[in-house]
Amino acid sequence: MITTAIPLEERIAAAPQDFRVLTGDRPTGPLHLGHYFGTLRNRVELQRRGVDMVVIVADYQVLTDRDVADRLVETVDGLLLDYLAAGLDPERATIFAHSAVPALHQLLLPFLSLVSVPELQRNPTVKDEIAHSRQSTVSGLMFTYPVHQAADILFCKGNLVPVGQDQMPHIEVTRTVARRFNERYGPVFPVPEGLLSDAPVLAGTDGRKMSKSRGNAIALSATPDETARLIRAATTDADRHITYEPERRPGVSGLVHLAALCLGRDPHDVAAEVGDAGAARLKRTVTEAVNDFLAPMRERRAAYAKDLGFVRDVLRTGNARANAIADQTLREVREAMGTVY
Ligand code: TRP
Repeated sequence: MITTAIPLEERIAAAPQDFRVLTGDRPTGPLHLGHYFGTLRNRVELQRRGVDMVVIVADYQVLTDRDVADRLVETVDGLLLDYLAAGLDPERATIFAHSAVPALHQLLLPFLSLVSVPELQRNPTVKDEIAHSRQSTVSGLMFTYPVHQAADILFCKGNLVPVGQDQMPHIEVTRTVARRFNERYGPVFPVPEGLLSDAPVLAGTDGRKMSKSRGNAIALSATPDETARLIRAATTDADRHITYEPERRPGVSGLVHLAALCLGRDPHDVAAEVGDAGAARLKRTVTEAVNDFLAPMRERRAAYAKDLGFVRDVLRTGNARANAIADQTLREVREAMGTVY
């Protein structure tokens, strides 16, 4: 058999209408620049190119590593504002809440029958989350949520999933579930592909991976002053000459990388330009780059924040659309499984 290995990027460019993107986030707090360069930017670019965009607000998934999801309404409002500020188009994208789509969850039952317990236990992202969990015991939801995530993707026959590196094991689970379902019951699902951003993992203000729980993140919704304060307090080192050497100098290089991404420039050039002017000058450069970059997003965010009624309508419309799609897919699944009575 001849396999034509045309790169994914080229296939998207040639036929954007053949792709439906499904991706999303847990509503656990404000999105930050790591989310933006890791996946949000990709989503906005794919939307611009004309792929169908479905975005899940994964509220059930919040319960994987904590007992209760508090203040969900506020957090979801904030997440919707971050999405719209980043450039998701409420006219084109379908944004919906996990818990509002019952038929999606029914897919979880047959899907769970398609994976083994050792497969669930091997998932490196789940293992990592268990290691960092704030719970004393691990719930069943923690082990099964990657299969749940397969339902999130497959309910709408999503075939393209732009995510960060940590989500790639879940894409593998989804591909396995889709293949096994199709083999066992007949062809219902596409086998989706993950799309990684080309930006390497973004460091936070302490040189480690940017993440809200590490307290080293710059939120998209941060004010210019908050941003300046966070960057001023960032970790650097004793060497005055600024270079871009991620392995040897994670703190300084993280800052250089952040400025480079915001400026759309090569990090080595940004570092060379600061050169002997030292860390204080580097921090001013980064602060200015980040604040200029975020300015249009902040403006859009403020405008939408004045009209939360509209923002919640976006979600309600998305929920209705997601339900119609999920009902249709569940009908196909029940037919394939012979459970139509
Ligand atoms: N697991 C993702 C996160 O931690 C959120 C998510 C839920 C998701 N369902 C998804 C991502 C489906 C991509 C596709 O942010």
